[in-house]
Amino acid sequence: MGNSFFEYLKKFNSPKDFTGELLESFSQRLIKYSDFISRIEREEDPNVIEIGRKLRDLGAPMESYKILKADSDYYKFRGKENMFWRQLYFAGAFANLGYPTVSIEKKSKSYCKLLKKKKEFLLFLPLFLNTYAGIFHIYREDYKSANALYREAISLMEEIKPKNFERIVDKEYLWAHKLISNNYLDSLFMSEMTEENEKELMRMMDISESRSDRTESEYIKILTLLNKAEMKARTGKGKEVDQILSDIFSKSSQNMIRYIEPSYHRIKAIILANEGKERESVDHMIRSFEESTYYGNTLAETLIMRDSLFNYNILAGKAGVKNRYEFFKNNGLFNYLLNVLKIKDWFLGSEHSVNVSKTAVGIASILSLNSVRRRLVRTSSLLHDIGKVVVPWYSLNKISPLDSLDWEILQAHTTEGGKILRKLGLNKEAKIVENHHERIDGSGYLKGLKNISIEAEIVAVSDVYNAAITPNRKYKIPKTPQKVLSEIKKESFSSKVINALAKFIKLQS
Ligand SMILES: [Fe+2]
Ligand SMILES: [Fe+2]
Repeated sequence: MGNSFFEYLKKFNSPKDFTGELLESFSQRLIKYSDFISRIEREEDPNVIEIGRKLRDLGAPMESYKILKADSDYYKFRGKENMFWRQLYFAGAFANLGYPTVSIEKKSKSYCKLLKKKKEFLLFLPLFLNTYAGIFHIYREDYKSANALYREAISLMEEIKPKNFERIVDKEYLWAHKLISNNYLDSLFMSEMTEENEKELMRMMDISESRSDRTESEYIKILTLLNKAEMKARTGKGKEVDQILSDIFSKSSQNMIRYIEPSYHRIKAIILANEGKERESVDHMIRSFEESTYYGNTLAETLIMRDSLFNYNILAGKAGVKNRYEFFKNNGLFNYLLNVLKIKDWFLGSEHSVNVSKTAVGIASILSLNSVRRRLVRTSSLLHDIGKVVVPWYSLNKISPLDSLDWEILQAHTTEGGKILRKLGLNKEAKIVENHHERIDGSGYLKGLKNISIEAEIVAVSDVYNAAITPNRKYKIPKTPQKVLSEIKKESFSSKVINALAKFIKLQS
């Protein structure tokens, strides 16, 4: 079973290959394989990890997580505890390349706790601490917690005999050491530069350089070089960075270039921003977005998002702009965020954002909101789904039934959208975006709030309306505006907003 599925997967190289009916057949094959792997009574499948890797490359890292998680259960049932921990580690690592939800974060914490008590499997702990730290570092942006966990993992690694580690964990000691050190370095870059952190950064760079080895994987080698380039870029050594970057390009295989190009432009943007060349820095940030396919959430792609928002924010501060929204818009930020959304969300795409905005603005004028509030409705409706950029491509476009984890991932687009806008200082817009799936009777998500602003309600009703009248592959036949309206009335919106929508529909026809 695993073998034939893996052979089938080899046909694809990127999500772009899923044209026509292929997405449907791919999904069916994936469901079949997932069903197989979840069975306790089955043969052992040696292909699981390779399948996980391939799915990750195709933008379905959360499916990789589920498959490895199921495989770990299979080994647990058979009392093969080593294999249980091994597969569980891979599951977490794949989830960290997708979107580790709150429930995954909790599980990750409990595995670390459990391993501390299990003497014979303690050697797995550094790897588990690493994935747990990664959640704080990449997704929660809590560098202090991440640093503490990485430090714990590294000091544990230093105590371990490489041979013992390799025998139990079945992974190369040096590989693991490098992986954790690189992640720690990156987290240190992002931390507040206290004297202590700076010292630690220097110490880690030295360790990282002294531990190079020809057996390490291409990915780790490149990650080390990129870290080195980033460090030099941040400390203002632009010329040295160029040398490292050209080194990276000459050493990389074609397959890796896809991951390196976005980082290259990201690092260039950092140098230029440091040199006070804001315009050129923006150009590189935009190139960085363009080169990034954002299919899976690779670490590089997550960093681009983080750094770009950070740099745009600094630019706005330096320019002393009053209207931050207009500034970001005029400098291409929203266009590119919406473009990423269009690339990822095949069913709704960016037209959805534009349509929701048209409806929302229409309703806001019918309700005679003043110009400031109308502008707020216009901007937040256009960006209401922007948080979907962190949702992996496959999770966003799933045609098979959604399970509870899928829902958790999808629903997170509300808070993630809010986070993006807050980083840009657009706090009012952020609040509306966070609440655009809430309903006044408390039946919505993420928090089940009852008390939501009229602006959030306008965006919410425009969203529901447009999703239902848009023809798309997921729901096949679009509904008529009248039918949608009659359905919306049963939903939890205030009559004021529903009447305004009814008026809007009338004006359109
Ligand atoms: Fe949404
Ligand atoms: Fe939406």
